[in-house]
Amino acid sequence: MTSLSKKVDTIEESQTIAITSLAKKLRAEGKKVISLSAGEPDFPTPENVKQAAIRAINDNFTKYTQNEGMPELREAVAEKFCRDNSMNVTASNILVSNGGKHSIFNALQAICNPGDEVIIPAPYWVSFPEMVKLVDATPVILHTKEEHGFSFTADDLKPLLTSKTKALIINSPSNPTGSVLSEETLRGIANLAAQRDFYVISDEIYEKIIFDGNRHFSIGSIPEVQDRVITASGVSKAYSMTGWRIGFMAANEEIVRRASKIQSQLTSNASSISQAAALEAIKGSQSDVEKMRLSFQHRRDLMMNRLLKIDGITLAKPGGAFYFFPSVKGLIGKSHDGRVLENSSDVASYFLMEAQVALVPGTAFGSDGYIRISYAYSERELTEAVDRMAAAVSRLG
Ligand SMILES: Cc1ncc(COP(=O)(O)O)c(C=O)c1O
Repeated sequence: MTSLSKKVDTIEESQTIAITSLAKKLRAEGKKVISLSAGEPDFPTPENVKQAAIRAINDNFTKYTQNEGMPELREAVAEKFCRDNSMNVTASNILVSNGGKHSIFNALQAICNPGDEVIIPAPYWVSFPEMVKLVDATPVILHTKEEHGFSFTADDLKPLLTSKTKALIINSPSNPTGSVLSEETLRGIANLAAQRDFYVISDEIYEKIIFDGNRHFSIGSIPEVQDRVITASGVSKAYSMTGWRIGFMAANEEIVRRASKIQSQLTSNASSISQAAALEAIKGSQSDVEKMRLSFQHRRDLMMNRLLKIDGITLAKPGGAFYFFPSVKGLIGKSHDGRVLENSSDVASYFLMEAQVALVPGTAFGSDGYIRISYAYSERELTEAVDRMAAAVSRLG
């Protein structure tokens, strides 16, 4: 048989999806697994949004829309970016796509050439390096530190810049660490991007889930770099709409034109029904967004106290999103039944097998020695999971 694509061999499968599937399989076998591995809010989609989708179906709004997204939605997204993110954009700067993931991939396809380098701070969202490889560019990893809250500065980036640097991908609030880049840091990055001529893809999908009275700051609001920043966001996390598949980018018109051309040949418009729902999500009442945010903040505080009581686990306080990225370095080297935990994958397997709690090892995010815990689950599941983890740790020798 003739050979298959070699490019696919260079790509990893998403470990988060793999672990979530394994947890489902174990549950089907009758094991009482609590999965804290998925990155999606546990709340239902707000009622007004669901009703808007039902209306769209009943009104036969079920055909192709404009490839770039229906004009009212592009307009509403542009208004949202101006109002909430202090950006200076109009509908012509907006491309609506099939989820935030699609928006980021469209952005990379629109700007990258083979051999370009794209800087990605680690711990990173699992898909960033794989998407960069898929556009024949090279991911260049900047390792950030737990003691710096997984943040970094423009100075940390300088040694990684070369004549091939095309872009930097940032993600604040971050999946997997929940860390939030400060306005000062983002201004430093913006200065460097302008001086050294690279693009910034800013993944702001968690922009609405930010805690402790902090405000989200968008690097795309800095006038000096607005043409070199591509802001990606969407409705998946803020409105608990992961299944609806609506994301969007804001970028200069040339990038939007190019990304739109690619989208027109690959997927065409995002679902018309989901677009109608996203329009309601963005323009309608925002009270559910605030309720969910407060609930995530409450769960963070509840879990943080309990996790810190487990011997061998240390933790930087997340400022947003709905993940903890605790260090489990204190557990590595310990053993159970003669089996030594050698790395974070072993620790995650131990928790799955001994505590029946599914978590994602840090290796999936480019940082061994850590695990990712999603707290987008009910308080009952969360407290039960931490109790089981604590009991499993106490059995390690
Ligand atoms: C950092 C980050 N960016 C983008 C996405 C993708 O969002 P969507 O479901 O809208 O494609 C996710 C989803 O997990 C994410 O965690």
